[in-house]
Amino acid sequence: MPVITCIDDLKRLHKRRTPKMFYDYAESGSYTEQTFRENTTDFAQIRLNQKVAVDLTGRSTAGPMLGENRAMPVALAPVGLTGMQRADGEIKAAKAAEKFGVPYTLSTMSVCSIEDVAEHTSAPFWFQIYTLTDDDYNRRVLERARAAGCSALVITVDLQLLGQRHKDLKNGLTTPPKLTPAVLADLATKWRWGLEMLQTKRRFFGNIVGHVEMEGDTSSLAAWTAAKFDQRLDWDRIKHLMDMWGGKVILKGILNPEDAELAAATGADAIVVSNHGGRQLDGALSSLRVLPSIVQAVGNKTEVWMDSGIRSGQDVLKALALGAKGVMIGRAYIHGLGAMGEPGVTRALEVIQKELDTTMALCGETTPAALGRHNLLVPKDFF
Ligand code: FNR
Repeated sequence: MPVITCIDDLKRLHKRRTPKMFYDYAESGSYTEQTFRENTTDFAQIRLNQKVAVDLTGRSTAGPMLGENRAMPVALAPVGLTGMQRADGEIKAAKAAEKFGVPYTLSTMSVCSIEDVAEHTSAPFWFQIYTLTDDDYNRRVLERARAAGCSALVITVDLQLLGQRHKDLKNGLTTPPKLTPAVLADLATKWRWGLEMLQTKRRFFGNIVGHVEMEGDTSSLAAWTAAKFDQRLDWDRIKHLMDMWGGKVILKGILNPEDAELAAATGADAIVVSNHGGRQLDGALSSLRVLPSIVQAVGNKTEVWMDSGIRSGQDVLKALALGAKGVMIGRAYIHGLGAMGEPGVTRALEVIQKELDTTMALCGETTPAALGRHNLLVPKDFF
């Protein structure tokens, strides 16, 4: 196994080992990618306050999410087409998360179905829904998630329609992928990926994505999304969906205090401050910049989490110190998966946990719950 010391090492391997079309799908943002870039550069602007001469023995990164204690308050975010980064990618990521002791979220747009993941794991995972216009589909998929023992529903509220990613269009990300000479030449150098794909039972090629019964013209994911995703999704519809589910709910994709108030008023168990990893509203502020105003608005009414831009344990610490009760990571674990499959996801989690532990300790803290603004040095006018 190569020596992996940080998420960037996994990212480099991910790029080397995965077809360009799928690597680019993960490592891109919408339009000019301003928000995608700022998600990470904003983290770098916040500095840390060293504190010495503190007893650091007996410290722990553990913390609760939705009332359950976890190895650290970090969950794997829902990521579409995870099974194209590596064969059976959703199963591999879910198994790594389970063994590590953090929650895994299965995306609506997955290659492995809800049942596939349930069959290969024993801890309950979370299911993320993109509501489609077809209410029968919504009901059926929630029934399947319930039957599979999913312990929470993540409702993504920031994707009624798709922010365009130029690279996906240029790469011909379609179902099945267009096999142009450039794609074939690229695939020839990624033979291990291809071999694994040929060996798996699950097929993306065709018009099935795991648990979504895709109908109509599926040749372009963007066109299919535009036709099927529910553009009516307002707070009433969200509430309706929550009632249909009847269990714990996380609303993901909130970026300002006004929407956070409305989200909290639905009775959601948690909300995720998120700009979808810079893949939706290009020009939106980074999640980090808007986090404190949202914590201030609704932090006493619901659990406030955040995602978008987290690539290290230092980043996790900064989010927690700004009041998030937990975070989600997307690309950080996808790089691990694309690099090395299940051990790569485990390695990504180990790297982040070790960084969180060390950074917490050097800031003079022994638990995530003790983190706060006093640990940070924030530039004037940052928020
Ligand atoms: C996503 N994200 C996402 N979110 C969601 O609710 N359902 C989905 O199917 C997807 N699909 C998806 C694919 C890819 C390739 C990426 C990178 C992201 C958004 C994801 O859940 C999360 O909000 C971001 O990934 C967080 O940003 P970072 O950690 O990737 O910077």
